[in-house]
Amino acid sequence: MGEFDDIAVSRPADGVTLIVIARPEARNALRTRTLAEIAAVLTAAADDAAARAVVITGGVKHFAAGADLKEMAPLDAIGVLTHERPRHWRAIQSFPKPLVAAVCGYALGAGCELALACDLVVAGSNAQFGQPEINLGMIPGAGGAARLARTCGKALAMQMVLTGAPIDARAALAAGIAVEVDEPESAIARAIEIASLIASKPPLAVRAAKEAVLRALEAPLSEAVAADRQAFALLAASEDRREGIAAFLEKRTPRFTGR
Ligand code: CAA
Repeated sequence: MGEFDDIAVSRPADGVTLIVIARPEARNALRTRTLAEIAAVLTAAADDAAARAVVITGGVKHFAAGADLKEMAPLDAIGVLTHERPRHWRAIQSFPKPLVAAVCGYALGAGCELALACDLVVAGSNAQFGQPEINLGMIPGAGGAARLARTCGKALAMQMVLTGAPIDARAALAAGIAVEVDEPESAIARAIEIASLIASKPPLAVRAAKEAVLRALEAPLSEAVAADRQAFALLAASEDRREGIAAFLEKRTPRFTGR
């Protein structure tokens, strides 16, 4: 599935694309090439009907230790402003299909932001989520403060971005950052299992469901509820909705086609 320098891409289950960040020598720091490769895989998966959900992980030891500080060090303000990184982040953040993270070890800085941009996070028990940018004279550059505030509220967001201290997997679970915690060796398999379950669902409804939850984080409640209703009505035009209800009534397994 293409040749990449910083990631490995595979299809571990029907409908599931697996991206493994593989720069262990830099603790999976997200240099621009890494982000570009992740964005390229997601952009291709968005248009690939056979790709129904994506899992992203860094393996059992490190998720990602942030932006690559060696690459970032020489950049001045203009260099940061005109950089290609925000374009790659937009591709990741606007990926329309479910994106599941299996986070083991360090998810720091941009690594934490990558996890927060995913739809579901399965944490390995060794996971550490942190925004240490404050220690470097920065703030999170890819939405970490905003997403943390919306995901787990002001108190923990303030603690994490002001102190730079990471939280562990159990705290991430309690804060709503992670959906479950598993042994590191099982976290990736569990993320694939969840993605595989989602991949078996009708794709149009999956897409609308993801949009609905994300919309709720952005729009006023009344607008979000009204938009949900419109999407609900639109799905009544889909063959998969007819098939889903017919299969239930006929006590058989549905055969979804994505139409
Ligand atoms: N960028 C570049 N290289 C990194 C890196 C990073 N973010 N994190 C680790 N590395 C490199 C180290 O420089 C080191 O390389 P060398 O062997 O060439 O010296 C190698 O990975 C191993 O690192 P350590 O020896 O430090 O490994 P450790 O296991 O003792 O510690 C760690 C791991 C706690 C993750 C530690 O490396 C660390 O604190 N890294 C920096 C974390 C950080 O500050 N991240 C935020 C980056 S800024 C950001 O992300 C901005 C944004 O919002 C977009």
